[in-house]
Amino acid sequence: MSNTIIVGLQWGDEGKGKIVDYLTERSDVVARAQGGSNAGHTVINNGIKYILHLIPSGILWPDKICVIGNGVVIDPIGLLKEMDTLRAQGVSITPQNLLISDNAHLTLPYHRSLDLAREKRRGVNAIGTTGRGIGPTYADKIERQGLRITDLRDTSKLAEEISWRAELHNQELEAAGYEKVNVAEVVELITAAALRLQPHITNTVVYLNHALNNGMKVLFEGAQGSYLDIDHGTYPFVTSSNTTAGGACTGSGVSPRKIERVVGVAKAYTTRVGGGPFITESQEISDLLHGMGREYGATTGRERRCGWLDMVLIHHAVMINGCDEIAITNLDGLDTLSTIRICTAYELDGQVIHHPPATIAEIERCKPVYEEHEGWLQDLSGMTSYDDLPEKAKAYLTRLGELAGAKVGLLGIGPSRDQTLVVE
Ligand code: GDP
Ligand code: IMO
Ligand code: MG
Repeated sequence: MSNTIIVGLQWGDEGKGKIVDYLTERSDVVARAQGGSNAGHTVINNGIKYILHLIPSGILWPDKICVIGNGVVIDPIGLLKEMDTLRAQGVSITPQNLLISDNAHLTLPYHRSLDLAREKRRGVNAIGTTGRGIGPTYADKIERQGLRITDLRDTSKLAEEISWRAELHNQELEAAGYEKVNVAEVVELITAAALRLQPHITNTVVYLNHALNNGMKVLFEGAQGSYLDIDHGTYPFVTSSNTTAGGACTGSGVSPRKIERVVGVAKAYTTRVGGGPFITESQEISDLLHGMGREYGATTGRERRCGWLDMVLIHHAVMINGCDEIAITNLDGLDTLSTIRICTAYELDGQVIHHPPATIAEIERCKPVYEEHEGWLQDLSGMTSYDDLPEKAKAYLTRLGELAGAKVGLLGIGPSRDQTLVVE
């Protein structure tokens, strides 16, 4: 196993958690480097469903070390809740197996309120955020007025540090007609959380680099997807971090020279939650998947928008991320379709194009160019090896590899750990 970055190639929810869980067995450390509790990574093992928001999916393997890196934004109250939920499910979480970066920024209760207030202000142009305070936390970080995990080390200073920030943000909340946060209450909550989190706080940059120098293998668990990237996504309908491979380095303090492999994860169709353009969106696919009880958000429970596989997006994301290979999840979602469509190009103002255009207006004028494949019309979920797959499914995967510009190395045919196949 090599030091590997896992990234989403679509709009998030590609099944990264499941692929990370699968690859953790052959890694030593699993690290998150961006995003926050907007992420919802589902792992199902032995019939138990775990949903990870801030904690790397590697935590489900008892002998692995998990790191929440400097680029992550951490809601301390949400993190403690997540730790408690996982512990109640039998997962061991200790200061030895969960390390939290001292440089990571804190999401505080006023960030959540600001997230909701700013969404309301956007009106019909709302992004459809997860409401977890992600944008306002990163905004404070970039404005150089954020609080960091290291500030939890000395609780005697918390009241002073939180007060002026809370009061500043309360002005905006009040002007927007939202309830102000109670500063004393926030200080009390964060002080209590600080005392519980302190044993986990460390310099994770030094830890990760020492681990790598000692030959340990690190898996970087991406959150969100390439088209939610603040630079490369469908701006402004994006999240506030760099979700693409480069973000794993800045968000962990690990040099790009130490990265040996990048694996992109994509569903065999496309989904998106929240607002923004979606060229291959399809009512037929939505009805099919929702009818199976699938494609409801792991964080907010919202119904995900669904559509055909868009290989223009995936090809472009493979380029940005430098993917060595791709993992295709949810192939079983297409089992009942007699005709499967793949978008291979867009038509924009009479021209055929092969990369997503930059502006929302242009994306909205794009029409998908599809090629059609015969479906395999067979239940794939019980298959135990790639060789068992019907020829039509193999042909579909071969075609995806050609269009992506990277070979399909892993395949998901069901949500459980054992429903992952290696493509020979
Ligand atoms: P993530 O955010 O990228 O980790 O993905 P999510 O967990 O939010 O969403 C992926 C959904 O697909 C979850 O409900 C997973 O349990 C499920 N899933 C992942 N891979 C497969 C697969 O190969 N087949 C099926 N049926 N479900 C899958
Ligand atoms: P995982 O890691 C899918 C979307 C939101 C919204 C936009 C901005 O599970 O793949 P934010 O709360 O980040 O400011 O919302 O990004 N979004 C996700 N969609 N999966 C995610 O994470 C997401 N995290 C954020 O729906 O459109
Ligand atoms: Mg998710």
